[in-house]
Amino acid sequence: MAPKVFLTGGTGYIGGSVLHTLVTAHPEYDITVLLRKTPDAFTSTYPNIKIVKGDYDSADILSEQASKADIVVHNGDSDHEPSLNALIAGLVKKSTPAHLLHLSGTGIVSDWSSPDYLGTLNPKVWSDLDDLPSISSLPDHALHRNTEKILFKTATEHGDKLKLAIMCPPDIYGKGTGLGKTSSVFAPMFIRDLRTSGNRPFFYREGTNTRSWVHISDLMQVYLKVVEAAVSRDENFGWNKEGYYFAGTQEHSHLAVARTIGSILKKHGVIEEGELVQVTLEQIDETAKHPRFPQLGRYLYASNSRTRPKRAQELFGYTARAPGLLESLEEDVLAALERS
Ligand SMILES: NC(=O)c1ccc[n+]([C@@H]2O[C@H](COP(=O)([O-])OP(=O)(O)OC[C@H]3O[C@@H](n4cnc5c(N)ncnc54)[C@H](OP(=O)(O)O)[C@@H]3O)[C@@H](O)[C@H]2O)c1
Repeated sequence: MAPKVFLTGGTGYIGGSVLHTLVTAHPEYDITVLLRKTPDAFTSTYPNIKIVKGDYDSADILSEQASKADIVVHNGDSDHEPSLNALIAGLVKKSTPAHLLHLSGTGIVSDWSSPDYLGTLNPKVWSDLDDLPSISSLPDHALHRNTEKILFKTATEHGDKLKLAIMCPPDIYGKGTGLGKTSSVFAPMFIRDLRTSGNRPFFYREGTNTRSWVHISDLMQVYLKVVEAAVSRDENFGWNKEGYYFAGTQEHSHLAVARTIGSILKKHGVIEEGELVQVTLEQIDETAKHPRFPQLGRYLYASNSRTRPKRAQELFGYTARAPGLLESLEEDVLAALERS
C-alpha cells in the first residue's frame, strides 16, 4: 500500500519545496496537505494530492489527519505548540508505527542572547552527532526550544511507536520549488534593514560572526532521505533522541555576506555606496522587528550559528550539489528587489 503522508506548510518556502520534492520523487505516495488557502495552480499541478482545509489552530483536524497518516511532515512554523501537540495526539493514537518530521532551525544554537560573541567569531561548532546531549538541554530562551522540548518528551514517552526526526536547517538560500513562497527571509530583510544604516550594508563590532547556510535544493536531499527512511521504517536512521538533522553545507561570516549583497545592490544601482558601515547594537536592535522575537536583528546580523550535518554525512554521504551562497546571492537579491 502507498505510504500515507500528511504535510503542513505546503505553501511555504521550505514546506512547499518539501511537497514538490516528495511529489516529484515519489508520485506513488498518498499525500494529504493542510492548506488555509489554496494557490490557483495547486490542483492542476498536484491533481493527486488531497487537500484538507484548516490552519495550525484546527486541533481536531490536525489530530484526525495525523491519526490516518504513516508519516507527518510538519513545516511552516517551528514554534507553534498547539499544532505540534495536536499532531502528536493523533499519531500516538495509531495502532501502527508512525513517523513525524518536524521543522526546527539552527536558531536554537545561536548565541544571540549573550553579548559575548555578538559581532565576533564564536569558536563553537555544533555537531548533530556529538552535541545532542547539549542541544536537548538548552535553556528555554533558545529559539524553537519550546517545540523541541515537546518532541524530546514525546520521544521518551512514545518512542517505541512514534519515530521522530527534528529537521534543523541553518539559514537557507536559493529559489524554492513550491507554489507559494519561493524565497527565504535573509536577503529581503537585510535589504529592508539598510534603512537603519544610511542605505549602506552594515556589520556589528568586527562582523566576523559566522553562520551556516544551505541551498534549499540541498536541504531537500536531507528531507527526501529522511522521508524515504521513514517509509522503509529504516531503524538505522536516527530517530527520536538520535533523530536530529543539521543540513548546513557551508558557513560564511556576516562580513562576507553583507559585502556580497552590498556589491550586488551597487551594481544594480540600488545603493550608491557599497562599502560596509559599522553600526551600534542599538541600530541592530532597530532592525528586523518581530512581535514574537524583538531581538531578531541580533540573531540575523550579529550572532553565530555554526553547525555541521554529521548525521546526514555519515548516513548517506550528504554533500552540497548546489552552488554556494555567495555565488547565488544575486538571484536572491534580485528576487527580493522585484517583490519590494
Ligand atoms: N527560511 C529559513 O531560512 C529558515 C531556516 C531555518 C528554519 N526556518 C523556520 O522554518 C519555518 C518555516 O519557514 P519558511 O521560510 O518555510 O516560512 P514561510 O515561507 O513563511 O512558510 C510558512 C508556511 O506555513 C504556513 N503557515 C504558517 N502559519 C500557519 C498557520 N497558523 N496555519 C496554517 N498554515 C500556516 C503558511 O501558510 P500560508 O501560505 O497560508 O501563509 C506557509 O505554508 C519558520 O518557523 C522558520 O523560523 C526557516
